[in-house]
Amino acid sequence: MDKMVIEGGFPLVGEVSISGSKNASLPIIVSSIMFDGSDNEIDNVPDLEDIKTIKKLLISLGAEIKESGQADKLIINTSNINNYDAPYDLVKTMRASVLVLGPLLAKYKRARVSLPGGCAIGARPIDFHLNALKLLGATVEVDHGYVDVYADKLKGAVINFPIPSVTGTENVIMAATLAEGTTIIKNAAREPEIDDMITALNNGGAEIKRTEPAVIAINGVKKLKRLCHRVLPDRIEAGTFMAASAITKGDIFLKNINVSHLKSVIEKLSEAGARVIINSSSSMRVKGSKVIKSVDISTSPYPDFPTDMQAQMMALMTLSSGLCVISENVFENRFMHVAELIRLGANIKIRNNFAIVKGAKKLSGAEVMATDLRASASLVLAGLASSDGLTTVSRIYHLDRGYEKMEKKLADLGAIISRVKASDPLSAEAENPDFNDTACSKSA
Ligand code: UD1
Repeated sequence: MDKMVIEGGFPLVGEVSISGSKNASLPIIVSSIMFDGSDNEIDNVPDLEDIKTIKKLLISLGAEIKESGQADKLIINTSNINNYDAPYDLVKTMRASVLVLGPLLAKYKRARVSLPGGCAIGARPIDFHLNALKLLGATVEVDHGYVDVYADKLKGAVINFPIPSVTGTENVIMAATLAEGTTIIKNAAREPEIDDMITALNNGGAEIKRTEPAVIAINGVKKLKRLCHRVLPDRIEAGTFMAASAITKGDIFLKNINVSHLKSVIEKLSEAGARVIINSSSSMRVKGSKVIKSVDISTSPYPDFPTDMQAQMMALMTLSSGLCVISENVFENRFMHVAELIRLGANIKIRNNFAIVKGAKKLSGAEVMATDLRASASLVLAGLASSDGLTTVSRIYHLDRGYEKMEKKLADLGAIISRVKASDPLSAEAENPDFNDTACSKSA
């Protein structure tokens, strides 16, 4: 397993280009299952481990993914799909694999998907997905760790989510797209990645409309034409670089972003003292301040502060001038990074779903271990701000799941950061091939 070695204490300065959104790419790629075409085209897809996993999954179903000559463009032929199973090996590495349930059921009236099980940040069941598919007329059976879903036909229904679920909303939208009649989703999730998927589907002939902020109406259509879409920018990658500028007291210009999707992050970083200068709807400059003010943060579904930015903001708050409370309200166990931040000198106490962070004068480099995707980002940020000694972040396969070329982007901004390959003699894992842990590989 690769590690990241960071010599911190330097401000990050320069320009960074933000990649396409992971969480929008995943449902849009799987939605290609519902299209007949041999040349479904998706642009601005980031080069990430999670994208490789979803491509593997589609190929295992019988899809063909062609090289386009452009690194971030996928051309997908789904006309020969002949398998409807998402196996344990793929679902265990990425729980978003459950997104194939909706499109497989819509198009082929059957799907068999390994149950994702728990993950590093919480139990994360898929009961909302399954209950909604039942309401659309599907039979759902759980056996030997797999869920089998099948139907003669799907019929529109009213679905009321107990709490908003991002992939749950996406699965139901896809299942309802080719169903008979109208489906209404109430208490639907409002994340922009869902609307990006809706745009992609509508451009291919679907009839889906967000009629109120949390209500989505889907008029079933008989068939879809060609999928042709450019994925929106990754707001969490953007937020991570914004926090990187603030924590290193740097000055970063971010381009290829969607500013309107970053309101809550801009608000909290500004409260913390960073200067956010918006240049256009797709670019901004973030200047860190000498003094980082402490701000309370409370995560909630979009448009509120994203849980996927909680760990990075916590890293920032470890160097703040006072005391703050960070409440995690989306996942029950999303504080795994706390113990690692403490190893770097942070002063944090956990009480249920609250973390009380008292700003420290400085962080100092140490060996730390990534536990999930965003936790890894927070450790990299803390390492960049550690003013004495090297920080080594191990298990960065978590980081590779969701950040495209992160060390290169950071190095281009002046960070002293390098990847130690597993094959490198400096890597402990290289010396001990038994050192492997996939048990906590699933995360957001
Ligand atoms: C998605 C994002 C993830 C983000 C999360 C919350 C993708 C691929 N992943 O994950 O990055 O952190 O939204 O913004 O888009 N729940 C249930 N039963 C269900 C479904 C969800 O109890 O059937 C609960 C979850 O345990 C969690 C909450 O609902 O407490 C919200 O989860 P959800 O929005 O579904 O997260 P994901 O879609 O898995």
